[in-house]
Amino acid sequence: PARTTRPSGGTGVHGASRAAIAARHLRTDRWWLAPAGTAAGLLAFVVYSTWRAFSGSHYYAAPYVSPFYSPCLAESCVPMRHGPNWELFGGWWGLSPALLILVFPLGFRLTCYYYRKAYYRGFWASPPACAVAEPHAKYTGETRFPLILQNVHRYFFYAALLVACVLTYDTVLTFRNAEYAWGHAGLGSLIFLVNIVLIWAYTVSCHSCRHIVGGRLRHFSKHPVRYRLWSWAGRLNGRHMQLAWASLLSVAACDFYVYLLATGAFADPRLF
Ligand code: FES
Repeated sequence: PARTTRPSGGTGVHGASRAAIAARHLRTDRWWLAPAGTAAGLLAFVVYSTWRAFSGSHYYAAPYVSPFYSPCLAESCVPMRHGPNWELFGGWWGLSPALLILVFPLGFRLTCYYYRKAYYRGFWASPPACAVAEPHAKYTGETRFPLILQNVHRYFFYAALLVACVLTYDTVLTFRNAEYAWGHAGLGSLIFLVNIVLIWAYTVSCHSCRHIVGGRLRHFSKHPVRYRLWSWAGRLNGRHMQLAWASLLSVAACDFYVYLLATGAFADPRLF
């Protein structure tokens, strides 16, 4: 690469202490593929989930309730015998009931370490990829408002635990038939089961979870249970990115399945 005179007053890789390389980066592979694919995937989910969250309809088809709408906390929720329907919010709430609950899983994912990397790269190009300098002149990381708020991730983790418990409850309730008799299952029960396994795997593979169970200890030898939990969380944590995507897809698949049933596109095939 040609070495040239460094632009004066530059920061970051153009700073005084860095090698004066004129090329924007030295990568020769298709490094833009990963951030472009990530941005496209996230955008597709944002478009889909925004449509579904604001629609306020077709989110219940007994015995399935869409994970976007559970627990349903508004008076306007459709009556459902198979799902948590707690009217904590009175009739004054005029918008879609999904908006009351989605703020928690949304906050959890928005502040997630993996998703941060994904959208910083995909949408802000900050930086776009390893060894590719970002186009912004100034870089303050997450040390200033508003990005410093990413630190609330641990609290969203606690909220996400509660949401995962509710979705587990919903999944258990799918093993009933239309007469509310237990011991039955449909194709939807299977989809819900896969989804809840992925949701739990994603939730407990969280970096905050790993720190909560195994952090701030001097001697693992004195805390064998926490050591065991930390090892499990660590193993899952190594797959956090894959679990983030898999659970994102599965939650959208669950919602779409309920939508299809609720709109009468087809009837839920019963397995037993
Ligand atoms: Fe991704 Fe906590 S780091 S969910």
